[in-house]
Amino acid sequence: MSDEHGSGVPVNLSPGGRPLGQRDPHASPVQRVQVDLSAPQFQVAAKNPKRTERTTLVFFLLALAGFAGFGAAYTQNASNFLLGLSMALGLLMFGFGVASWGMFLMPRGPFEEPRALMQTTPEEKRLFLGDFESRGKVAIERRGFLAKAMGAAAAVLGIVTAFPLIRSLGPLPKKSLYRTKWRKGSYVTDINNRRVKVDDIDVGSMVTVFPQDDVGGAISQTVLLHPQTTDIVTMTGRETWAPQGFIAFSKVCTHAGCPVGLYEQATEQLLCPCHQSLFDIYSGAEPVFGPAPRPLPQLPLYIDSRGYIRAQTGYDEPVGPGFWERGGTT
Ligand code: FES
Repeated sequence: MSDEHGSGVPVNLSPGGRPLGQRDPHASPVQRVQVDLSAPQFQVAAKNPKRTERTTLVFFLLALAGFAGFGAAYTQNASNFLLGLSMALGLLMFGFGVASWGMFLMPRGPFEEPRALMQTTPEEKRLFLGDFESRGKVAIERRGFLAKAMGAAAAVLGIVTAFPLIRSLGPLPKKSLYRTKWRKGSYVTDINNRRVKVDDIDVGSMVTVFPQDDVGGAISQTVLLHPQTTDIVTMTGRETWAPQGFIAFSKVCTHAGCPVGLYEQATEQLLCPCHQSLFDIYSGAEPVFGPAPRPLPQLPLYIDSRGYIRAQTGYDEPVGPGFWERGGTT
């Protein structure tokens, strides 16, 4: 059953006509338990309570000093050591104080008291559930806009808290995973920013080169070799890539990215010193030994009318160790 109070909100009533939760005035009074403070369970564990009180007090005072010291150290921009020390002291002493109080100065118990059987009738359960439901409706549904606003705020909070996480990943790599700074017509340039001409490289020599706008670039670094004076064809489709014996490969090892910095002229192989991968230059830097899984990408070269060595275009595949989506173009 229900009733209308001044608010117009229906209120469930018990079968006796009183609101749920209100005690029946005719019911027999609740028995109060008489406590005897001299009973054993009310005694403390400390043999000398006064002394334990003083010890506990000292713990709390030391904790207070530690926390206050932390505050002072923080405002003075003190070292992390002092901050940690003061906070550790405060927490430690606070813990000792609480433990000491709880273990030695609280009544030992155990505490038991008689408890009457409190059984709810099925009718009271039904009324309680009805009352609970109606109050929930009153509390939530009447202010649905608040619930929606709260949900929206929580959703936005969830999104913005992800911002630092996403930002900390850094900018998107975009095409940088596929491209170096080598472009069509790039001048082959040495580490001193000097454009390399055919006369600069003796037969049997090797030099590390870069595109002119990325001198020193870790991804663009390239080895320029001159093993012979006639064109080198490393494979079909690369007939024009190594004119007059000038041939260039990415210097970034395809195993773990170390610089492939050693040229063994006798065997015509490039050696990566990190894990001893060997690359055969005449077969397009195919790995012939070691853990490198694929050849060093070859840079197509040409020699312009003034004798400068230049790139026909960029690399035709990503340089360095493989990643999840190899196969892009320059
Ligand atoms: S990085 Fe070159 S062989 Fe491992």
